[in-house]
Amino acid sequence: MKLWGGRFESGPSEVFERFSWSLHFDRRLFAADIEGTKAWAKALAGAGILTAEEAGRIAGALDSIPEEGAANAPDEDIHTYVIRSLKERAGELADKIHTGRSRNEQVSLDTRLWLRGEIDRALGLLRALMGRLLELAERHPEALVAGYTHLRRAQPVLWAHYLLAYFEMFARDHERLGQARARVNLMPLGSGALAVNSFSIDRDALARDLGFDGITANSMDASGDRDFALDFLSAASLTMLHLSRLAEDWILYSSDEFGWLELGDGVTSGSSLMPQKKNPDSLELIRGKCGRVFGAYASLFTTMKGLPMTYNRDMQEDKEPLFDAADQLSASLEMARAVVETARLREGPPRVAAEEGWLVATDLAEALARSGVPFHQAHQLVGSLVLESVKAGRQPRDWTPEALAAFHPAFTAEMAKFLDPAEGVRTRTVPGGTAPAAVNAALRQARERLEKFGQ
Ligand code: ARG
Repeated sequence: MKLWGGRFESGPSEVFERFSWSLHFDRRLFAADIEGTKAWAKALAGAGILTAEEAGRIAGALDSIPEEGAANAPDEDIHTYVIRSLKERAGELADKIHTGRSRNEQVSLDTRLWLRGEIDRALGLLRALMGRLLELAERHPEALVAGYTHLRRAQPVLWAHYLLAYFEMFARDHERLGQARARVNLMPLGSGALAVNSFSIDRDALARDLGFDGITANSMDASGDRDFALDFLSAASLTMLHLSRLAEDWILYSSDEFGWLELGDGVTSGSSLMPQKKNPDSLELIRGKCGRVFGAYASLFTTMKGLPMTYNRDMQEDKEPLFDAADQLSASLEMARAVVETARLREGPPRVAAEEGWLVATDLAEALARSGVPFHQAHQLVGSLVLESVKAGRQPRDWTPEALAAFHPAFTAEMAKFLDPAEGVRTRTVPGGTAPAAVNAALRQARERLEKFGQ
């Protein structure tokens, strides 16, 4: 069955049918299409097109349509499958269901309903991941690690501070996904193909019935718009970007070269050839899938860019990337949570990384600056201390207070305590800082914020 045809003398060619067919992917919108069609039947009853009894019969018939039936159905898309199946069950009454309705608005409605559910799923998974990051931070509240810039040892930081950096990224992602959800959650039905309908459909009641926050404001915009999908893909891309950076960090940190992190057996895999291997494939796949989600975003962006108002069939190309991006996002969030759950921070290597390599140089320079040495001179002075140490193969711990004071009179014996990275970290107390007191406060606030996110 087709939802059109009266104007044609012959049917579509086999090649065109095959080319334009979308049921094999848009059947994912089955539940949304049923829900939307039931609400539409109720709206038609409100407008006097159907009786309440007829709308009830249609709803009952819609409920009896099997989802699996769409797998091998002879229909071009999910909307046609649902209407044909309705006709088989409700007879001629079904011919009234599409009164004033277009697939252009229907596909927007279905996609919005489906995407709303996907966003809610992703938000829940994101919160779970953030909760695991906080647990891992709370397990090691005082652990010191090396902080990097340019992937060169920079300054010592607390492990918990590092994890809280990701908490912040994911908190912004949570906000962005929530903002995307607000734009998704507007009800387009009633827009018609582009110019609404001439029946007195109560759009606000439809929005309430379907759990939307409100209705779309312009029928042409509603027909031609996919911003809501792009908003989601943009927020999903950023979330994936953050997941990918975390994955990259942890691939490094769990390597023998770093030796900071031990990943659980359950999230790593071996080699078919090399018996000793324990590979971080879960993290590599997260990093890999990130590219796939960016691709989905670029794909729909490009599809939409030159389209004349309003709906164009090009827009059918929104679905596969959108479905795939939502799947990859949820799967990656779930995987990341599992990895964080199994991760164990080792004691020795991260601390040694913070102690060796002169990460304390800035602490020493700042100590000199606090004693009145202009910072640029302090910087030069510590630079020469580092140069001499590097040449002599000396680490900070190899300097005694006396040797330091003997190196240059600006150094006091008291300043030697900053040769221990834990000491400098304690001075970094400003809000947003890595001092244990600041990090503890940030951890507590993060917990509270996470709880609010869940409400
Ligand atoms: N399968 C189409 C899509 O996903 C549904 C809308 C079809 N509308 C049309 N005028 N051909 O966009």
